[in-house]
Amino acid sequence: MSKDAPEAPEQLLAQTMAARATTPGTRFDHQLLRDWGYAIFAAAGSSKAEAVIVTDHLVNANLKGHDSHGVVRIPKYLDWVRKKELLTNQHVRAVTSKGSILVLDGGFGYGQVIGQEAMQLVIERTREHGFCAAAIRNSGHLGRIGEWPEQLARAGLTSVHFVNTSGYGILVAPHGGSDRRLSANPVAAGCPGPGGNPYILDIATSAVAEGKIQVARNQGSLLEPGLIMDGQGEPTNDPERFYADPVGSIFPMASHKGSGISFFCEILAGSLSGGQSSHPNNPTAWRLVNNMMTICFDPTVFSEFDFSGDVQRLAEWVKGSPARVPGIEVLLPGELETRTELDRRENGIFIDTQTHRQLLDAATSWGLQTPSELAL
Ligand SMILES: NC(=O)c1ccc[n+]([C@@H]2O[C@H](COP(=O)([O-])OP(=O)(O)OC[C@H]3O[C@@H](n4cnc5c(N)ncnc54)[C@H](O)[C@@H]3O)[C@@H](O)[C@H]2O)c1
Repeated sequence: MSKDAPEAPEQLLAQTMAARATTPGTRFDHQLLRDWGYAIFAAAGSSKAEAVIVTDHLVNANLKGHDSHGVVRIPKYLDWVRKKELLTNQHVRAVTSKGSILVLDGGFGYGQVIGQEAMQLVIERTREHGFCAAAIRNSGHLGRIGEWPEQLARAGLTSVHFVNTSGYGILVAPHGGSDRRLSANPVAAGCPGPGGNPYILDIATSAVAEGKIQVARNQGSLLEPGLIMDGQGEPTNDPERFYADPVGSIFPMASHKGSGISFFCEILAGSLSGGQSSHPNNPTAWRLVNNMMTICFDPTVFSEFDFSGDVQRLAEWVKGSPARVPGIEVLLPGELETRTELDRRENGIFIDTQTHRQLLDAATSWGLQTPSELAL
């Protein structure tokens, strides 16, 4: 328990919302951000195709509402490229290819490229065998993991994904612990849905994704209570105390349940793929490596029944639960992202001034001139 008197959650939320409302920044059209991203990644050594894949993934994460995995990542990616922790123009390589089993190596390339190429192989293998288990190791940051079940769902497939890092991204205290031992270890799942909008679950097993702490820090806002602890293991909602010395940790989601799922992300994505689980002494712990276990099913092979009809009936049944709090309806996995994307395509993507400045600095450091529409 905190030594300080706890503030009411409503009070903390009100402070956070007030801070966000006054955060200086600009709304940009997504296409403007894309064009800028293509130029930045090309200047940093990526082929045109790679620059497009990486940028589109990041801007799409912003469109979906996951700013923590959007263009805010660009300066960090470029920093890694400069230090050769992340390698440009790499492609996925099959290490093992036996029927429905794939072990793939990402060669420390951009995770957006490695992920997209790996999912294409998974689609082909699943169509052939009805099922595919693909262990992907040594990928760069795989970004918004929901992108991967989405790619498979667009091909009519249902999938589940477990992700870890191999030591660099240790951020989360295990349930009952007080320092960083586990990575944020996201889990994602997807299945085709109506109108081309798949059902997508995409969650970190940490109480909050680290990128969201970074975004709150950039915006000078507080987090909701119960998400992070400081370097002494005391709960806090202040991002600055998380980044202080000694560093703080993130709570696992859902106490012991999230902690346990995270432990198995390490085993499924890390130990089984050969990319290794989170340990600071791993040989690749000096660079950010994402490993992912993707398990993919072709519903037409598995189910002799009407799979989509059953999913649809389930969705309507769940959605139909009367709101417990008037005005706050039940949302299905992926529904919030679909709505956010519609809004942001129309009204633009908000970039706070601090992030904007970091992007300009990163671009300038690779010799790019700032286009007038993007000047601060
Ligand atoms: N590459 C990595 O190593 C890494 C690590 C951690 C997180 N991430 C990414 O960070 C992003 C953010 O993760 P997060 O845990 O903060 O996500 P989050 O807490 O925002 O949860 C998102 C999920 O919950 C669903 N959802 C949101 N609000 C809902 C509601 N009211 N009712 C029902 N469902 C709802 C969404 O549709 C989505 O599936 C994800 O895209 C994740 O992939 C990546």
